[in-house]
Amino acid sequence: MTNYSFILNGTSVTVDVDDNVRLLWVLRDVLGVTGPKYGCGLDVCKACTCHINGQAFNPCSVTVSEIKSTDEITTIEGLAGTVDADLHPMQQAWLDGDVAQCGYCQPGQIMAAVATVNKVKSEGRTIITDDDLDGIRNICRCGTYVRIRAAIRAAAENMM
Ligand code: FES
Ligand code: FES
Repeated sequence: MTNYSFILNGTSVTVDVDDNVRLLWVLRDVLGVTGPKYGCGLDVCKACTCHINGQAFNPCSVTVSEIKSTDEITTIEGLAGTVDADLHPMQQAWLDGDVAQCGYCQPGQIMAAVATVNKVKSEGRTIITDDDLDGIRNICRCGTYVRIRAAIRAAAENMM
């Protein structure tokens, strides 16, 4: 067991775990942060999508030993805090569009959506294209893709 520190949703945390434990289990089982969901554990379904230093990533496929003490991990629980509001514009768009069905994939969908819109913004673009949306590979077994894409376009207008 080794001590590992990183910044989680704006707060420094330290955990004492084996080197090869995947970060998703550290978040969920050690720290009790259960927004990131377990689907495949193989970096395929994207249900666990979070942000590391503002970029989307999948903690089911990253060992805790790969995380640096300065790395900033954001989960759905901390997303609103990144804009200092009760809800992030993407979360509001999700509610307005009644996007979720069973809900299991939705935290990962929202985190992937925010990273996508932020990437478009960082490139100096203001329009979310079909190609941008096609780049989101998160699986939804309930098939809410049409509502997801509409919500992303709606939220992007409040994020630009
Ligand atoms: S659980 Fe992480 S990608 Fe599926
Ligand atoms: S809302 Fe059920 S899996 Fe996406």
